[in-house]
Amino acid sequence: MTSKPTSSAAFGGRVALVTGGGRGIGQAIALELASAGARVAVLARSADEVKQTAKLVSERGGDALALPADVTLADQVAVALNEINERFGPVEILVNNAAVVWPLGPSITLDPDQWASAIDVNVAAVARLSFTLLPAMLEHGWGRIVNVSSGIAAHPAGMLRANAYATSKAALEAHTLNLAAEVADTGVTVNVFRPGGVDTAMQAWIRQQDPEQIGTDLHERFTRNYEEGALLTPHQSATSLLSRLPTAATGQIWDAADPT
Ligand SMILES: NC(=O)c1ccc[n+]([C@@H]2O[C@H](COP(=O)([O-])OP(=O)(O)OC[C@H]3O[C@@H](n4cnc5c(N)ncnc54)[C@H](OP(=O)(O)O)[C@@H]3O)[C@@H](O)[C@H]2O)c1
Repeated sequence: MTSKPTSSAAFGGRVALVTGGGRGIGQAIALELASAGARVAVLARSADEVKQTAKLVSERGGDALALPADVTLADQVAVALNEINERFGPVEILVNNAAVVWPLGPSITLDPDQWASAIDVNVAAVARLSFTLLPAMLEHGWGRIVNVSSGIAAHPAGMLRANAYATSKAALEAHTLNLAAEVADTGVTVNVFRPGGVDTAMQAWIRQQDPEQIGTDLHERFTRNYEEGALLTPHQSATSLLSRLPTAATGQIWDAADPT
């Protein structure tokens, strides 16, 4: 895992929190934020993975905090935020990256409670965290909130049998743009990041699903993208975000596929 700072010291001394930072795109974003000078708190459920990301940041000379927690559990999030406050100070850069792609399958066969759980992780937990951290950002007149979405939000019918995921990312983008407009001209920016198709555990998990359950078209598309080398690396996706994040732009949908 190597990468050079993309925007040297662009975030020198700033405090960042990356949810889902234990692997994949979130880990790459955490490393890029650290390269840009931020002290980075990394939160996800898998303790070994958040510790690994923190270790990688430390090995590159950065400061990191490993925070094992579930974004949907208020008490665990509160403990994590207290630790960030005590060790680093208030969060100034929030990257809401944690998400789930399940449940996949014919919608009428899925457990509605599982559908609602996915919305809780992908949308409600994002809003809760942002609402908790916004007051300090507004008080200080500076903040960056990025919500990691997906191209599916632009084409909700483009990924059949992924109803919860499509619903969640469309709702996430509406939440983001609405909030950005509400806090315009405060110094706090709120943007969407669509990371592109990225070679991560989430993609691998989709390829491992039974084609009968998720649909042969979907299964073939994800397998083909992988086999043809069409996926970005997490590092490529993260550098695309970091090239945009230092600006004052707000209320935007940044897509890794677009030129920066
Ligand atoms: N990979 C792609 O091609 C792609 C394309 C479009 C959009 N995205 C978006 O990019 C983001 C990252 O995806 P990825 O591909 O890197 O996925 P990933 O490899 O599955 O990583 C997801 C991260 O989220 C964490 N997470 C999931 N549920 C959580 C919970 N309840 N509480 C705390 N952390 C939780 C996971 O850790 P634990 O399981 O340990 O909690 C993990 O660190 C997601 O928002 C995804 O929707 C990905």
